[in-house]
Amino acid sequence: MYNSKSDGVNDSADALVAGDRNHLWHHIKPHRCFQTQEQMIIVKGKGLTVTDIRGRDYLDATAGGVWCVNVGYGRESIADAVAAQMKQMAYFAGSVGTVPSIKLSGKLLELLPRMGKVYYSNSGSEANEKSYKIIRQATTIDKTRKGKYKILYRDRDYHGTTIAVLASSGQAERKKDFGPFPEGFVQIPHCLCYRCPFEKTYPACDIQCARVVEEIILKEGPGTVGGLIVEPITAGGGIIVPVPEYFPILQEICRRYEIFMVIDEVVAGFGRTGAFFGHQHFDVDPDMVTLAKGMASAYEPISATVVKQPIYDLFLTDPADPETRMHFFRDISTYGGCAGAMAASLENIRIMEAENLVENSRVMGAYLLDRLRELSGHPAVGDVRGKGLFCGVELVSDKSSKQPPGEAQMGAVVEAVKGEGVLVGRTNSSLPGLNTTLYYAPALVITKDEADRMVDATRKGIEKVFG
Ligand SMILES: Cc1ncc(COP(=O)(O)O)c(C=O)c1O
Repeated sequence: MYNSKSDGVNDSADALVAGDRNHLWHHIKPHRCFQTQEQMIIVKGKGLTVTDIRGRDYLDATAGGVWCVNVGYGRESIADAVAAQMKQMAYFAGSVGTVPSIKLSGKLLELLPRMGKVYYSNSGSEANEKSYKIIRQATTIDKTRKGKYKILYRDRDYHGTTIAVLASSGQAERKKDFGPFPEGFVQIPHCLCYRCPFEKTYPACDIQCARVVEEIILKEGPGTVGGLIVEPITAGGGIIVPVPEYFPILQEICRRYEIFMVIDEVVAGFGRTGAFFGHQHFDVDPDMVTLAKGMASAYEPISATVVKQPIYDLFLTDPADPETRMHFFRDISTYGGCAGAMAASLENIRIMEAENLVENSRVMGAYLLDRLRELSGHPAVGDVRGKGLFCGVELVSDKSSKQPPGEAQMGAVVEAVKGEGVLVGRTNSSLPGLNTTLYYAPALVITKDEADRMVDATRKGIEKVFG
C-alpha cells in the first residue's frame, strides 16, 4: 500500500483514485475504461523505476510514456537548477535576452555546429509549427521562393497535435474527425522496409521511397513546394530506421528544387538513438531541426526550432524600409521565455555529457536490440528494429503474410508485460490496423540487468497472449 505520509501526499490513495476518476480527462485513452478500472497513478520515480499509488514498482521502458525522460527520474540537480533560476528570474518574454536563454542557445549550437540560430517555444508541436511559419513567410520575403508554400510530410511520421502539424502527420487515426485541415500539406511514402510501400526489397529497390519524392514534387509543381519535414527515425509510426542511402537522396532532391529540409528531432534528439541527434547517423545536412522532449528530459516544457544562418538572414529587415519592415519573423511563444525551463535543459545536457549517456544509449541500445532479436523465433514476432535506445518489436498473427494482430491482442500483451513489472509502449491510435509495434525507449541510464528484465517480461507477455 502506498505510504502517503512518507511521500508528502496527504490524500489517501482511495481519495486520489476517486479524484482521478471524477476530475481528470486523460490523454489519448478510451475514457469509459476508467468507470470500471482503477487508473494508474504514479507518485514517484528514480532512475528507470516509477512507483504507483498502491506501492507497486514498474521498470519504465518508455521514458515517461512518450520517450522523453532521457536522463531518468529523480534528478535533484535539475530541480535545484530550476529552483535557483526561478528564484533569481523566472520569466521574461523571448523578445529580450535572459542568461539561460543565451547560454542554452550557445550550447545547442555547439552540439549542432552547422546551425546558426535558436528560436524557443514550449512543445514539439509548436517547434514544428514555427518551421512551417518560417517556410511560409520566406515565400513573401525572398522573391525566389514566391509561391513555394507547400510542405511535404511522410506517411507514418507524426509532427504534433495542433491542426497544422496534425495536417502534416502521416497517421490517419490521429487525424480522424479533426478536419478540415489547412491546405498545402502533401504526403510522401514512408520508408519502412518490412512493409515496403512499393513491395520491393532493399537494396534492389533502388530506394524508390526516396526517389519517388521527386515525382511528387514535379506533380505538385516545384514552384509550389517550399519545405519537407521528416523524423530522422520515425517514432510513433513504428520505429522506422531509414537505409543509409535514404537521406542523401532526399537531400539532393531538396537542394535541386530549393526545398527547406526540416528534421524533427523531437523524439530522436538528445541521445535517444545513440547519437546526440538522430540525423547525425546519416549523411544529411538539414536546414532546420526541431527539438523538444529530451531537451530538458521533460522536467520542464521547452522546445526549439534551430535554423541555419542564411534562413535567419532572410528575416533581417530594415525597420525604416516601408517595403520590408514587416519581414521580420512576426511570431511569439509566451512560454518560450520560461527561464526555469532553459535552466533545466542546460543541467540536463550537462548530465548527459558528464555521464556519457549518448554513448550508453549506443552501447546499451545495441545490447537491447540484440536481446530483443532473440524473440524473433516466436511466431508472433514479425520484425525487430531500432537504433540506440529506440527499439521496436512488430507483432504479427501470421508471420508469412505479416497479418497484424487485433487491438485486443495488442492491449493484452502490453497488460501482460505490465503484469511482469515492465511498462512497455506501443504504437497507439496512429495507423489503422497497424498499431502493432511494441516500443522500447527507456531512460539513457539503463543497465544490462534492466534491459534483460524488459526482454524477459516481453517474452512472457507475448507467450501469455499468443502461446
Ligand atoms: C516526432 C514528434 N514530433 C513532434 C511531436 C509533438 O510534440 P509535443 O507533444 O511536445 O507537442 C511528437 C510527440 O510525440 C513527436 O513524436
